[in-house]
Amino acid sequence: MSEETTEIIAGLRQPQKMISPKYFYDERGSQLFDAITHLPEYYPTETEFGIMRHNIDALADLVGRQASLIEYGSGSSRKTRILLEHLHELAVYVPVDISEEHLISSATAIRSEFPGLEVLPVVADFTKRFALPDPAVPPLRNIVYFPGSTIGNFTHDVAQELLDVMYQEAGENGAMLIGVDLQKDPAIIERAYNDSAGVTAEFNLNMLTHLNREFGFDFDVDAYSHSARYDRDEGRMVIELISARDQVVTIGDETIDVGAGEAVLTEYSHKYTLEGFAAMAEQAGFEVRQVWTDAERYFSIQYCTRL
Ligand SMILES: C[S@@+](CC[C@H](N)C(=O)[O-])C[C@H]1O[C@@H](n2cnc3c(N)ncnc32)[C@H](O)[C@@H]1O
Repeated sequence: MSEETTEIIAGLRQPQKMISPKYFYDERGSQLFDAITHLPEYYPTETEFGIMRHNIDALADLVGRQASLIEYGSGSSRKTRILLEHLHELAVYVPVDISEEHLISSATAIRSEFPGLEVLPVVADFTKRFALPDPAVPPLRNIVYFPGSTIGNFTHDVAQELLDVMYQEAGENGAMLIGVDLQKDPAIIERAYNDSAGVTAEFNLNMLTHLNREFGFDFDVDAYSHSARYDRDEGRMVIELISARDQVVTIGDETIDVGAGEAVLTEYSHKYTLEGFAAMAEQAGFEVRQVWTDAERYFSIQYCTRL
């Protein structure tokens, strides 16, 4: 049994069943996530784009010349293109993602759009240490780029560990550029994860299709429905799959009982205050040097250097 299968079974044996959000992202999951970013209800992507467009010159000046841009969870690298166009004499672009096919096709597209740029994709689970490739041009500094508020998918303890890893990867005079979604009216947040076209529901359910196909589970996908609600006490979206009936899921010799109405947690999306995020960054050894937000303060992009 693979390490991943063992990890998934362990999550399903918890009192609160859970599956890591990284299993959303097979090729279909990556396409569905892209579709989500174009939905009218899903404010984070367009808001983050707007902040980048407005502040790109200041941002490029802070990054300086000949940096290595290391992107965690690069997906289709849509927002990254703004950076690739404006950063000064970028040494190398290193997109890191778990969704292999999607990563390779995005990297190929970027190579043809930016012919002079070295692009070195890394297929890896960024929650674990991974080796950085050796670029042809030695970078003057590393910029760890983590957009899309993907940091919000992790509980505070795990997010803190991830920030610690990024601190290491940033190296001596490196920096982190991170997109962080902010606390706001819960109705706006809930709408973003319950779109009227049902794309987010399809994205959530696709996780089970992915587990069935790639790891040999036999979830009855049609028996599940999507649920997304804001937990005000914890300041986070809770995204779950609810089983409509009792079922026994099998994988190899193992069985997992799922009760009618039982929820499998698939994702959190934590929303931060500026102070709350600054405290986490500081604990990892970063200082927040610059924060850009939109006029409504829905979203932030934060430039952090090592203390
Ligand atoms: C919320 S999407 C964000 C995509 C893009 N950065 C953006 O801002 O639109 C999360 C991305 O991170 C990748 N991802 C999620 N968990 C990962 C993990 N543990 N290791 C590597 N990549 C991961 C997914 O494949 C996906 O491309």
